[in-house]
Amino acid sequence: KRHLISAADLTRDDALLILDTADELAKISERSIKKLPTLRGRTVVNLFFEDSTRTRISFEAAAKRLSADVINFSAKGSSVSKGESLKDTALTLEAMGADAVVIRHSASGAPHRLAGWVRGSVVNAGDGTHEHPTQALLDAFTMRRRLGPLDGRKVTIVGDVLHSRVARSNVLLLATLGAEVTLVAPPTLFPVQVGSWPCEVSYDLDAVLPKSDVVMMLRVQRERMNAAFFPTEREYSRRYGLDRDRVAKMPDHAIVMHPGPMNRGMEIAAEVADSPRSTIVEQVANGVTARMAVLYLLLGGADLRGEI
Ligand code: CP
Repeated sequence: KRHLISAADLTRDDALLILDTADELAKISERSIKKLPTLRGRTVVNLFFEDSTRTRISFEAAAKRLSADVINFSAKGSSVSKGESLKDTALTLEAMGADAVVIRHSASGAPHRLAGWVRGSVVNAGDGTHEHPTQALLDAFTMRRRLGPLDGRKVTIVGDVLHSRVARSNVLLLATLGAEVTLVAPPTLFPVQVGSWPCEVSYDLDAVLPKSDVVMMLRVQRERMNAAFFPTEREYSRRYGLDRDRVAKMPDHAIVMHPGPMNRGMEIAAEVADSPRSTIVEQVANGVTARMAVLYLLLGGADLRGEI
């Protein structure tokens, strides 16, 4: 495959190849080998029209660990503020020799449009409320490292599903990998099309927690909400926040995840975010490895399985 736009584009074999490649790359870095020469001479452009901490930095780290040249573009301070279009911005970067373009954009569908304009590979780093496939891959990688194969595992995703590209990509990828996903949210924070997604739906977090192997909390995305619909922090955390009492209802082996950035005290209590069950920091580290695997495979790397 040339692009990674949606988790739905990945077959089970594609997804397992990415996760297995990430496992092999993790083994290499555990041997204190910081850098591989694989993508020497290739150029990766990070094209960020929306803010990011984790995704932008981890794509940069991933590309550099594979010895690619990296160009970081952020819309703030660029000619986008003078009205330059996405297409002209992309063609300008392509003229500078991009082999892969990693794009984050507030418009759902922007990476798909971009893929029609540039010759290089396009990787979706989050488009509007649509998808964030590399987040789903790093989440699946983290779950698999903690819990083993995902077939039959019960994953509960909780919170602002309506605005969450992370939730959609996770539902699609986890279904492909054989996990059973339940989404939990207030009725106002489910998208209308959730009935066609490959998952269960619940409004009752306390009923679902005892059956969960993974509880993934989502950020309440106030920046995408009309202020009139903001849930109050107190009411939201009372019904849908993960605090110590709710964690006590989870099985002993179950893990707590959050893609970040977090609203500590709203969807997740600080003591839960910082507890040994939390994989939040691990997810960030695994994000670099999972993105290395994606860039490695898209830009023509060989199957590493069994090679190391
Ligand atoms: N999880 C995630 O996408 O974080 P950033 O917005 O900081 O990249």
